[in-house]
Amino acid sequence: MSNDPLRDWRIAEPPHYRAQADEVALFEAAYAARLPVMVKGSTGCGKSRFVEYMAWRLQRPLITVACNEDMTAADLVGRFLLEPSGTRWQDGPLALAARHGGICYLDEVVEARQDTTVVIHALTDHRRQLPLDKKGELIRAHPDFQLVISYNPGYQSLMKDLKPSTRQRFTAFDFDYPEADVEAEVLSTETGISSAQAHQLIAVAHAARRLKGHGLVEGMSTRLLVNAARLIQGGVSLHAACQMAMVRPLTDDADLRDALEHAVLAVI
Ligand SMILES: Nc1ncnc2c1ncn2[C@@H]1O[C@H](COP(=O)(O)OP(=O)(O)OP(=O)(O)O)[C@@H](O)[C@H]1O
Ligand SMILES: [Mg+2]
Repeated sequence: MSNDPLRDWRIAEPPHYRAQADEVALFEAAYAARLPVMVKGSTGCGKSRFVEYMAWRLQRPLITVACNEDMTAADLVGRFLLEPSGTRWQDGPLALAARHGGICYLDEVVEARQDTTVVIHALTDHRRQLPLDKKGELIRAHPDFQLVISYNPGYQSLMKDLKPSTRQRFTAFDFDYPEADVEAEVLSTETGISSAQAHQLIAVAHAARRLKGHGLVEGMSTRLLVNAARLIQGGVSLHAACQMAMVRPLTDDADLRDALEHAVLAVI
């Protein structure tokens, strides 16, 4: 497979993903129908892990692009490079995935400017084409190609939104933090902490999540709980781990920190 152009993006080991509901079967159905997928949800609730897991399950390479506002269409599609021997075309991540049949994952897609995002339009409707204007080539997407995007609708400004014409090309998942038993399983499998310890962290998280909208813009994510669990596994006390991995990263507000400290003390 040394001449496999997507070898760097193949996922060898199965990523650990604990399903919350029927999202795995639904993603498979979307992939079978070659429908583009959008995954929305708060930070650290499992969106990227889900996409990695699905790429592994479908045995497709996954090309991830972290979108930002300076990104241009050329960053997605490709550009000519100047070399001593002349110019050489280099496919961007989107062209690479479309040409050779990978899954292209545009993470935080709302960060990209709308005039950049429109390059996906012909790829995400019945045409499944990507025009490389500068090169004068039209890529007809490989049958295995799929586009996945994700973003966090929480702290998105009006300026940062997808055009309706972009949005309405996708099927969508709304992600949220898992319910307690599932989240405990995630923590135990990811880090090895006991179910009882996991439930203590989750009790703190539930208190914090109730503060969302009351001073907190985002809830306490599963990612923070995983970090705390890792510290505990490394010998840090529950109290210190909660402060260091969960409370302090979450907020600088003294009153909120107080409220969270109470929640921590209540579970110890
Ligand atoms: N369902 C799950 N199964 C396994 N691990 C999970 C799950 N949900 C969350 N995690 C854990 O939480 C961490 C954060 O998840 P992930 O990186 O997928 O978040 P995200 O939704 O992509 O966040 P962001 O919007 O900040 O990129 C993962 O590294 C993993 O440890
Ligand atoms: Mg992510």
